[in-house]
Order: sequence, then C-alpha cells, then structure tokens
Amino acid sequence: ELAAREQARSARTLDELREILDRFEGCALKATASRLVFADGAPDADIMFIGEAPGRDEDIQGKPFVGRSGQLLDRMLAAIGLDRTRTYIANVVPWRPPGNRDPTPQETTICRPFIERQIELVDPKILVCLGARSAQALLGVTDGILKLRGRWLEHEIGGRRIQAMATLHPAYLLRQPVQKRLAWRDFRAIRAALEQP
Ligand code: URA
Repeated sequence: ELAAREQARSARTLDELREILDRFEGCALKATASRLVFADGAPDADIMFIGEAPGRDEDIQGKPFVGRSGQLLDRMLAAIGLDRTRTYIANVVPWRPPGNRDPTPQETTICRPFIERQIELVDPKILVCLGARSAQALLGVTDGILKLRGRWLEHEIGGRRIQAMATLHPAYLLRQPVQKRLAWRDFRAIRAALEQP
C-alpha cells in the first residue's frame, strides 16, 4: 500500500499515471484481467464519474462503462444534456475482478491511491460516485446508497475541495428500473451544480 501511494504520487500527468499503473504489480487482479481499464473521456472535464470495477465488456474494450451499465449511463448523461466525451469516467479498481465478483477490501485499498491521484490530476468541479462501494471507497462514508444518494458532500483532495455526490449505480437501475426516478433527481441536481459559475 505504501508502494502504491508513493508510485501514484510520483505521477505528474494522467499519461504517467496510466503507465505507472500498467507496470504496477501490487494488485493480484492484474493477473486475471485482460487489460488495464484506466479511464474514458476528457481529461479537462468539469465532472468525473467513478464506478466500482470493470466488467466483461470493459475488460475486452479497455474502457470503463461500455457494457449495458455504460449504455444506461450514456442515456442518463444525455438526459441532462451531457455527452460522455465531455465527462471523465473511471473506476476505483482498474482491473476486472474474475467473474465480476466484488473487489475485496484489500484490492480496493491497494488501488485507492491511484484513483485518488487520478481525481487530483483531472481536478473536476464535481465528482459523482456510482454506487455505494465507490462512495465508501472514496468519500469515507459507510451508509447504504439509498441513504447516501443525492446529498452533496465535500471531498478534500490534494488540498482542494470538490463537490461530491453518490448516486445509484446503473447496474442497480437495470435491475430495479423503478428506482430510476431517484437517479433522475440526482442527475438534475448535478446538472444544476454544473451550471453554477
Ligand atoms: N460497472 C462499473 O462499476 N464500472 C464499469 O466500468 C462497468 C460496470
């Protein structure tokens, strides 16, 4: 974990961070994944979305949120007038866990310094955690997602404050479409915050 923190901190750009992560041997998930799934979108985006870990489609394509969850995310973004190419999208864990199991707490802990550095380097105005595990890993919260969602939290990173919100994970919305009305509320609040100077 110390090695991960030192290596993550040494990256001065997103490209460097990607290279360091690609060479990093401290996470066992790397051995079973096909490739690193680093990020997608615009490095200068005002808004950054962070999921949990890549699934099968992401592992094949090397990009986050390109499978069914990603297609729903794209539609949710479109609903608030955002194209995903104007956002920045990543995951807490950048390698697919075998069989799409949840990452273990140890795997999440090992990977956290890298996603934290990624947030610092993108320096978005707004951070959106998709699902409870992303929010718990990054925002130091422990509540379940139905309690956490829709609330603004201040996230301090690299001496700067970022407005952060957790919302429902698109995979959850695919299983529980009735909950989309809650996500819709969150996305409208996100849109309004983005429009503020
Ligand atoms: N679910 C996630 O959390 N991340 C992805 O990239 C895809 C599905």
